[in-house]
Amino acid sequence: MPSRTDGPRKTFLVTQALPYANGDIHLGHLLEAVQSDVFVRFQKQAGNTALFVCADDTHGTPIELAAIKRGVTPRELIAETWHHHVRDYASFGIGFDIFYTTDSDENRRYAEFIYRKLREQGLVVEREIEQYFDEREQRFLPDRFVKGTCPRCGAEDQYGDVCEACGATYNPTELTSPKSALSGTTPVLKKSTHFFVQLSKCEQFLRDYLGGTGVLEQEMRNFVGRWIEDGLEDWCISRDGPYFGFKIPDTENKYFYVWLDAPIGYLSSTAKWCAGHGCDVADYWGKDSDAELVHFIGKDIVYFHALFWPVMLNAAGFKLPSRIFVHGFLTVEGEKMSKTRGTFILARDFVRIVNHPQACDYLRFYFAAKLTSNASDIDLNIHEFCTRVNTTLVNNVGNLHHRTFVFIDRYFGSIIPDAAWDAGLAAETAAAAEAIAECYGRGEYKEAIEKVHALANRGNKYYQDSAPWALIKNDPSKAAEVMVTCANVVKALAVFLKPVVPNIAAVVEEQMQRTFSWGDCAFSLRNIPMGPTKKLVQPIMAEHFAGLLGTAADAGNAAKDDGMIDVDDFSRIDLRIGTIEQAEPVPKSNKLLKLIVNEGARKRQIVAGIAQHYTPESLVGRQIVFVANLKPAVLMGQKSEGMLLAAQHGGALSIIGPDTPVSAGAKIS
Ligand code: 2FM
Ligand code: ZN
Repeated sequence: MPSRTDGPRKTFLVTQALPYANGDIHLGHLLEAVQSDVFVRFQKQAGNTALFVCADDTHGTPIELAAIKRGVTPRELIAETWHHHVRDYASFGIGFDIFYTTDSDENRRYAEFIYRKLREQGLVVEREIEQYFDEREQRFLPDRFVKGTCPRCGAEDQYGDVCEACGATYNPTELTSPKSALSGTTPVLKKSTHFFVQLSKCEQFLRDYLGGTGVLEQEMRNFVGRWIEDGLEDWCISRDGPYFGFKIPDTENKYFYVWLDAPIGYLSSTAKWCAGHGCDVADYWGKDSDAELVHFIGKDIVYFHALFWPVMLNAAGFKLPSRIFVHGFLTVEGEKMSKTRGTFILARDFVRIVNHPQACDYLRFYFAAKLTSNASDIDLNIHEFCTRVNTTLVNNVGNLHHRTFVFIDRYFGSIIPDAAWDAGLAAETAAAAEAIAECYGRGEYKEAIEKVHALANRGNKYYQDSAPWALIKNDPSKAAEVMVTCANVVKALAVFLKPVVPNIAAVVEEQMQRTFSWGDCAFSLRNIPMGPTKKLVQPIMAEHFAGLLGTAADAGNAAKDDGMIDVDDFSRIDLRIGTIEQAEPVPKSNKLLKLIVNEGARKRQIVAGIAQHYTPESLVGRQIVFVANLKPAVLMGQKSEGMLLAAQHGGALSIIGPDTPVSAGAKIS
């Protein structure tokens, strides 16, 4: 990927994978967000145009299941999640130009358009297949609505597409003892007609597309090439209704599979942005546009992006992705992220718990210092995090900044002196600028950071060897030269680090009263007053992370993750007895009831998904067990301050209560 910083302006359309709207942003998401954001910031700083689009991926079964679990509609769920996602990305300075949704009119139109084009080109066939059907609920059950025993390892209660215990993937029909996740009944097999894209017909197109260009890094290209060699299977793009998604035109009850409309979200989000900025979407996605389309994704979704997506774009006459950067998974302290180990770190927990004002910038730096253009996994290790940040940012760049400007403040009245700079260091900095720009453009951020570190080292050595504290007494004009040189090296370092740590670069920008473009790395400062010298960076220690990893400190020693909790985990849940005083249906919901629960000292409102099992009248006066310290939530517009406990048995539900009457508010332990 060329990365001219002095040539004609280029235009980039950059995307990261669209996060699912049924979960929170975690550090795995942030790894990719940082990777794409650094690329965008670098391109913008280099004078190119870069549009950074993202959206929530809102359709499909997991979203529907999550909504059912929460007692809200899928649309309510995705609206709430959208706000959380926007907030979390913003905390880490991820500068999307637009963060939209796939549940939009634009996305529906593009999905229908691309589908029609696929049909026109003879790429869609209809085929009858057998699928599980829930007779009680009268609906077909997509993968995640079927649970059962893993056919490979025998783990119970696994979803119909993948086993969380052993990682096997399979069809729901392969599960032993399948059960409907909706009703608990055993589903039956029923025939249904579905639409398939014949990928095998696109084999030559894909070979030419992936082989002839630098779309994928070499190793990944070989990997995808083997899939093509092994023969491409037809791709089912339809699901039976009810399904949260877009209805397929001219069908009774078929919907687009979420993975059809998800990547189209890249296109429809661009269209939304263009509509608001007087631009034409064809400037980015038109077949002849000069823009480069750059996707950043994880290695688990390469199949969709390198095979399905180009086929869809090609059929519909759009531009094809120019480059797909694929990263590996994030591990934490050497292990797969795990909720039970306490290593599944949410973005908002990182912000809340890590007790250091620059923690978010430092995470960006740490990730960048480890990111390359290949798909190796990346480990987050707290000790290494501190060492890397302290070594490069604090002790190297920060030190050069601090010692240089404190000296200039003291001996030159905060004015960079009017003296010549060291021509050798100016040339070294110019050479570094070219090499670092190259690295950013190729996604080799680790190498870029190494080069920044090397230049800062060089600057500090020059300072040390020059001994300005002695020169100022014996040869002040030479001391002035040293300061001019060091001040310009500091400026260049801030320019080079700006894509990664914009907030830290901003401190230098403020001091130098300019906004750094890439070209500002050239030596230029002399005879100029500076603003006050502020400390750029504060050291970070492992203690700042206290509480972040939960039990992770012990995780490495734990023989096995068996899902057990200890008594402390249990005691965090505040279970109490309450007496239901009022119960009424929640308007427009056939599942929810609103309960007013007396807990002795006060009353609280709890919204519970029990309307299909209990009438409101039958509940008044009953005693229940409820979770008193659950964060409040809003369900169908009603505030809920807790959760009552109930047992599920098959399709039935039974509320849990005390054996004999107990005073309201009594604590359960
Ligand atoms: O794997 C995921 O998290 C998907 N939500 C990514 C979708 S990327 C694009 F295709 F929308
Ligand atoms: Zn298994």
